[in-house]
Amino acid sequence: MAVVGATGAVGIEMIKTLEKRNFPVSKLTLLASARSVGRKLKFRGQEITVKELTKDAFAGIDIALFSAGGSISKEFAPLAAKAGCVVIDNSSAFRMDNDVPLVIPEINAGDLRHHKGIIANPNCTTAVTLMALYPLHEAFNVRRIFASSYQAVSGTGAKAIDELQRQVSQIVEAKPVTKEVYPHQIAFNVLPHVDSFLPSGYTKEEMKMENEGRKIMHHPAFRASVTCVRVPVYRAHSVAVSAEFEKPVTVDNAREVLLKAPGLDVVDNPEKKEYPLPLYAAERYNCQVGRIRKDCAFDNGLCFWVVGDQLLKGAALNAVQIAEELLK
Ligand SMILES: NC(=O)c1ccc[n+]([C@@H]2O[C@H](COP(=O)([O-])OP(=O)(O)OC[C@H]3O[C@@H](n4cnc5c(N)ncnc54)[C@H](OP(=O)(O)O)[C@@H]3O)[C@@H](O)[C@H]2O)c1
Repeated sequence: MAVVGATGAVGIEMIKTLEKRNFPVSKLTLLASARSVGRKLKFRGQEITVKELTKDAFAGIDIALFSAGGSISKEFAPLAAKAGCVVIDNSSAFRMDNDVPLVIPEINAGDLRHHKGIIANPNCTTAVTLMALYPLHEAFNVRRIFASSYQAVSGTGAKAIDELQRQVSQIVEAKPVTKEVYPHQIAFNVLPHVDSFLPSGYTKEEMKMENEGRKIMHHPAFRASVTCVRVPVYRAHSVAVSAEFEKPVTVDNAREVLLKAPGLDVVDNPEKKEYPLPLYAAERYNCQVGRIRKDCAFDNGLCFWVVGDQLLKGAALNAVQIAEELLK
């Protein structure tokens, strides 16, 4: 088994998830850029030395989990597949390719049958949203959603976690705030800007919900209008969703469906001030849904608030779950 991008925010979680879920790994190879060569990372109590990602790094490897960015995936994933390795890729490089299954195991594990050496992991905000939306779609047929995301800085990677920590310290110490990752200060602010802007005015991240949602749910008519927002939260994305369905939906029926949904916990007791919070959803495998209510602007509509650790369900956990499916 190999982890490509092992030193990154997602890579570190991949190593932890392989260990925690006792995935059958006989040898783990950790790959990153030349900057990290010689760094040691722990797996099952042993220190493994990080090696440089090179074209011939995949000989003898059965499964490679990639999380080193789109350009690295584009260059190295086809080489790894050619060397006989199954690639599970976290970047957006192959998600919309017809030959590449885009999989959330709780939703469309069956698509894995058609893989040709590369399998894609979905966008993190899309994955968290679909964990609640898909079971509702199965029951009531979703037509369209309007959604706003509240995305944690770890979604941008390890350097963005450092940026929030640094800016918080700078502000507390009354020092000038410095920016390296985001175009504006992220501490004590929210940025309505995730990923790059398209000519339509939406960002690429915002369009992933519709495009990837259609592919994963096998629902080509699904429509999604999304505003993605970066918030000064370290870990776990939250999404406020208004969904319109073909079939009539009640809160009780929806709750019944959501209570049975795999990988999802219903946390919905507003009287007791219980609803999903990113602080408490962090480091958990299951996503959480709450604030379930009838949408007052749609006839067959439902509002809900879904939260999930995007480093896990939006990346490392989903990738390891895909690897587990491959072994079945
Ligand atoms: N963060 C999330 O929540 C999330 C969720 C879903 C998908 N993803 C995707 O996962 C990927 C990684 O994200 P991240 O958040 O983990 O980023 P990150 O913290 O910045 O980590 C990037 C990783 O890629 C490695 N890398 C960079 N350039 C490289 C090169 N030239 N050759 C080999 N390795 C190289 C880095 O190694 P060095 O340490 O040596 O630089 C590091 O291990 C991205 O494609 C991202 O879109 C992230």
